[in-house]
Amino acid sequence: MFKSFIRHTSTKPFYVTTPIFYVNASPHLGHLYSMLLADVRSRWHKLDPNHQAFLTTGTDEHGLKIQNVAEKQGIPPKQLVDMVSTNFKTLASKLNINYDRFIRTTDSDHIAAVTHFWNIMIQKDLVYKGQHSGWYSVSDETFYPDSHIEEVERDGKKVMISSETKNEVFHHTETNYFFRLAQFKDQLVSFLEANPDWIMPSGKYQELLTELRSEPLSDLSVSRPSSRLKWGIAVPGDDSQNMYVWFDALVNYVTSCGFPDTFELKNGQYQSRGSNPWPATHVIGKDIIRFHCIYWPIFLMAAGVELPKQVLVHSHWLSEGFKMSKSLGNVVDPMATCDYYGEDSLRFFLMEHSSISSDSNYSEKYFNFTRDNLIGKYANIVTRCGGASFNIEQAVVDNNNGCFADIDEFIRSNSLNKDKVEMIITLKNQLLDKLTSLPAIMDESMQRFENRKAIQEWWSVLELTNSFLQQSEPWVYNKPLKEDPSNEKLRLVQSYGILLACESVRICSILISPVIPTLSGKLLDRLGVDAGERNTDYLVPFERISYGKYANGKHELPIQRLPKRQ
Ligand code: ME8
Ligand code: MG
Repeated sequence: MFKSFIRHTSTKPFYVTTPIFYVNASPHLGHLYSMLLADVRSRWHKLDPNHQAFLTTGTDEHGLKIQNVAEKQGIPPKQLVDMVSTNFKTLASKLNINYDRFIRTTDSDHIAAVTHFWNIMIQKDLVYKGQHSGWYSVSDETFYPDSHIEEVERDGKKVMISSETKNEVFHHTETNYFFRLAQFKDQLVSFLEANPDWIMPSGKYQELLTELRSEPLSDLSVSRPSSRLKWGIAVPGDDSQNMYVWFDALVNYVTSCGFPDTFELKNGQYQSRGSNPWPATHVIGKDIIRFHCIYWPIFLMAAGVELPKQVLVHSHWLSEGFKMSKSLGNVVDPMATCDYYGEDSLRFFLMEHSSISSDSNYSEKYFNFTRDNLIGKYANIVTRCGGASFNIEQAVVDNNNGCFADIDEFIRSNSLNKDKVEMIITLKNQLLDKLTSLPAIMDESMQRFENRKAIQEWWSVLELTNSFLQQSEPWVYNKPLKEDPSNEKLRLVQSYGILLACESVRICSILISPVIPTLSGKLLDRLGVDAGERNTDYLVPFERISYGKYANGKHELPIQRLPKRQ
């Protein structure tokens, strides 16, 4: 019945990751966005009761950037990373990000995994010591080639910056270990050519491939002198060097699924065993595509580990039209926003108002508007149908007793809205059609992280539901039914109308639960839908239903209107 869900029945959990975030500053809206994309995707997968998912997020805690901030604050780096990492963890739980592992690069199993990974490279003779000279940006934790830097004036001083990120760069000449990146270039190009869906969206795939083909790829410096980079994982057997933070950070994705113990080494290839969820789908921002789509796959090829399934590259959030920056005063603090509006409103807004391939804009006005829609056009349907004069529980019983078999004819003969009965029947049929096809349509978009598109389809069903209620007016039956409670025909027309609206909200609530788990859960609670019946086995209208107990009568509102924040 639900073809697209059957497509990927595998015993392995669907593995989705977020970047691990730097702990030099508090989390912001963009970090939350990546977490949310991963969380919604993984919850969507798990809507099928036969499916499992594995979601990781966490913090990237080593490197010069962190070292410098700790020095500035006059505290040991470990104290700083413990503190800020906790903020990310708090953000995740506040926003209901259902992670399976929160990985910190200071975790001991991670240090062991990275050390193992390094040793594989040494055994394969892929790392050598050499002299390195170049421009380093601490903010970006990366070297830039001469062709990618420029001189500008800042605060009356001449400084060198990266043309791409505009962050300041400093020249360093030092001894480093190098990884033989260059020798894998052709292999990576061939892999990408054979797998055009490996990087999504396709615009990003094209961009990266074009760049890779046209520019030379040099070997990568993968360590720093420990005299300069004190806060890092030690290079095994050489006290004078610590590992480059990106080498350390990328390995987190295999640490989280138990590397190397959960992999089987066969003919030099590490294959993921049993329930080990590797390979992963990586969710990243467009700022770190090079690290994930060039360095990481090459590291894995070199080590003989299966490559990730896919890399989803998302665009950035702006705030009130501009890049978020402290000096503009437009940084959106996700914690404060969540405290005021509630986690689901924020989750819904971020998913409804963004697209993967173009930058999105946070605006308090739109946010408020979106939230009001959730109340007025979604939650309100349950409030209306749950009114004391209706009886959802009885409507479900009527349905299960076969009372709605020839419903069109029945409505035609018994509707109190004689003049618009054909229109009501047409609306009803449109709604049923749309509702029936909604799961597969949403699935198509949700699998591709196109949440906005899925949500638009979802809204169109709710809009039809509201029109249907507005036109069929089930409340006009209350008066004649009060006068003659034995009029079964009138009672059944009303009963059907209420049930159709409830079926729509029930199915819509299940389908939107990955985005707004709390609010959808409250509405399903109110309808009395069993917790075990909120999955893909229960998406056909009027089938396998048994709810409605205590649904009618006085209840607390599931969500309240709020004025726009000042
Ligand atoms: O780069 N809009 O960490 P980071 C949307 N530690 N997403 C945004 C965003 C914005 N305005 N700003 C940040 C690092 N992000 C490394 C990653 S992974 C092995 C190591 C999100 O703290 C987006 O996912 O700078 C981006 O890629 C990430 O945060 C960068 O976070
Ligand atoms: Mg960054």
